[in-house]
Amino acid sequence: MSLLAVDMLRVRHRAVTVVDGVSFTLAAGESLGLVGESGSGKSQTALALLGLLPATAAVGGSIRFDGRELIGAGRAQLDRLRGSRVAMVFQDPMSSLNPYLRIGVQMAEVLEQHRGSARSAAFREAARMLDAVRIANPARCLTQYPHELSGGMRQRVLIAMALLAQPELLIADEPTTALDVTVQAEVLAVLDDLRRDLRLALLLITHDLGVVSGHCERMAVMYAGRIVESGPTVAVLALPAHPYTAALLASRPHLVGPRPGRLPSIAGQPPDPARRPPGCAFAPRCRQVVAACLELAPILRSESGRACACHVVEGASGSAGHATDRNFA
Ligand SMILES: Nc1ncnc2c1ncn2[C@@H]1O[C@H](COP(=O)(O)OP(=O)(O)OP(=O)(O)O)[C@@H](O)[C@H]1O
Ligand SMILES: [Mg+2]
Repeated sequence: MSLLAVDMLRVRHRAVTVVDGVSFTLAAGESLGLVGESGSGKSQTALALLGLLPATAAVGGSIRFDGRELIGAGRAQLDRLRGSRVAMVFQDPMSSLNPYLRIGVQMAEVLEQHRGSARSAAFREAARMLDAVRIANPARCLTQYPHELSGGMRQRVLIAMALLAQPELLIADEPTTALDVTVQAEVLAVLDDLRRDLRLALLLITHDLGVVSGHCERMAVMYAGRIVESGPTVAVLALPAHPYTAALLASRPHLVGPRPGRLPSIAGQPPDPARRPPGCAFAPRCRQVVAACLELAPILRSESGRACACHVVEGASGSAGHATDRNFA
């Protein structure tokens, strides 16, 4: 059984649908990368999983964690789950840390709350976790305030804090976007190690295909509130089926070798969720558009572990795939 099974998840704010029938599963210890341009609904999906959307949002479909339905679950059940079996790391560590409390106190409070640890044991455990995320001097870090740490250290502290309660699932929403490339690589390497050691399932949200390629076994590509392609990361990146995935790949600089002077990008903008076109939402930007794309939204069809929602790919039956010369490390 999957640890997390999301089925036809929908999120609506007033009359505007921002997540439109998203389905995926995540097994214990597995990593899934959720990618897509800004506004595609990645964060809304994550917030829905944690029951953190505003009360005015209408959420539909099913979210099962370890077999239990979370949609419609009571506040107490969601509170118990969050920060214990399911943890989350956001992009901006400053907004998740209390600027007035030393790191040690903040971490100890998590342990006292979730595990009923005594303060001295909590401090020892906090130091151990800071060491696990490769903070050079855990004892000193415990005595510091968030503003005394670098951005990379703050993000590691946040990861350490998220993992204190020994969760089974970590949802990380752009956890390294604010960091420079070297620090980003270090933080992601820490996450990889912890994931292996703790058998942690990871839902990693990012707009960076490079991050997904190195750190996620499977990936799902979102466009305008829907998953348009999913599959094993290596297979999808080697031969993307959906024209949008292919365009995303082509718009990336080479990960290895010289960078082109000017980066190509996908022409046009994703649709405003309030004004979705009647057919495929990507059709206005797609170079392979055919008549059917303008009339009917394509269904996500699965075959041998891969899935794609595209009329053109469907029509090409079996010869799906867009060759790419991008070299993913
Ligand atoms: N409270 C809200 N009311 C109305 N629309 C909202 C609300 N919150 C988010 N949205 C809309 O939902 C859509 C998806 O937003 P979301 O934050 O999930 O995007 P994202 O994929 O995480 O983008 P980014 O990469 O920029 O973080 C956007 O069009 C956004 O404007
Ligand atoms: Mg987001």
